[in-house]
Amino acid sequence: MGGMTAAAQREAPPGAELKVAVLGGDGVGPEVTAAAMQVLEAAVRNESVTLSLTARPVGWKAVLEGGSPLPEATLQACLAADAVFLGAVGHPDAIGQPRDRLPETGLLGLRKALACWANLRPVRVPPSLVGVSASTPERVRGTDVMILRELGGGLYYGEPRGEKDGKAWNTMVYSEDEVQRIARLGLSLARGRHGRLTSVDKANVLEVSRLWRRVVDETAAEKGHGVEVDHMLVDRAAMELMLNPTQFDVLLTENLFGDILSDQAGALVGSLGALGSASLGDGTDLYEPVHGSAPDIAGKGVANPLGAMASVALMLRHTFRMEASAQRVESAYEAVLADGIRTVDVKEPGQEPVGTTAFTDAVLERIESTTESAAITEGVR
Ligand code: IPM
Ligand code: MG
Repeated sequence: MGGMTAAAQREAPPGAELKVAVLGGDGVGPEVTAAAMQVLEAAVRNESVTLSLTARPVGWKAVLEGGSPLPEATLQACLAADAVFLGAVGHPDAIGQPRDRLPETGLLGLRKALACWANLRPVRVPPSLVGVSASTPERVRGTDVMILRELGGGLYYGEPRGEKDGKAWNTMVYSEDEVQRIARLGLSLARGRHGRLTSVDKANVLEVSRLWRRVVDETAAEKGHGVEVDHMLVDRAAMELMLNPTQFDVLLTENLFGDILSDQAGALVGSLGALGSASLGDGTDLYEPVHGSAPDIAGKGVANPLGAMASVALMLRHTFRMEASAQRVESAYEAVLADGIRTVDVKEPGQEPVGTTAFTDAVLERIESTTESAAITEGVR
């Protein structure tokens, strides 16, 4: 993975060209992607790097244009890029289509082709959003969980799969190697955070989970120095996430459990629209907001671009190693939220909601003013 190889640990060198493949996709995807790319441009404007963006279709949009949800030209652009940004895929018209025409098949194929096996979904509840949480302010205050979702295996890709004679089946399968590599990453993330790793499974029922739990323990015994590891069943984890989210530091889990728990974590922040993600592995890094294509609000200019902006911050952090720029983006949108400038999904009673563009403009203004003051400070030194 770009993000996990030794070479990519370095900061983007001065003068570097940062190549990003930009896949807006379906529904609100293009709207939040446009907002996110403006934020990316603003965040690197005063850095000595150049940004090169290549837009390509994916998902239902691509099916309508040519038949495949992941066209070859899109895949090639992604493989040639340093990082890929994807807005969202999914469309109501696609329901009932054969699997090779489903927008989701495009995304799953892309994750596979880019060898992304680790999905980082950070869930922080900024103080300004505790009031809109689906949990209570007291319970949610201070929440800072890194959901680490295994992304390359499990039910999403397991064979055999199919449907015949009134029956359908999927297979949840994990090898020891797959569990070990994600467990290692989880341990190393925990070490850089608060030193706690909770591995979530269903070991009371599933053989796969029993293997998962054993390998996590073995990996921890070998590589877990200084990390406190525990295990939790997924049903209980779903409840604990609502009742006591601050107990979690890194929450490690398999593909489907991670998909479900991360939507639930969206409710902790008040809206799924607020969460971003980084998909890392052995190829090109992929960044996507956690939310879907939200066809009901697509094209209305009301979508929350926060998850997309959070994904841009992750891209700056994990692929380009531009930590200061990543933080500038995060502080900018947190300040805008704190000012009470909110899209409708995270507004509080009495606040007048703003649309995607107004929210984005407010974030851009913040980034520009902090970039200016950084430049002035630099000049003074
Ligand atoms: C997500 C989404 C995807 C997934 C869908 C669109 C295939 O729900 O990124 O969480 O299930 O991984
Ligand atoms: Mg999901």
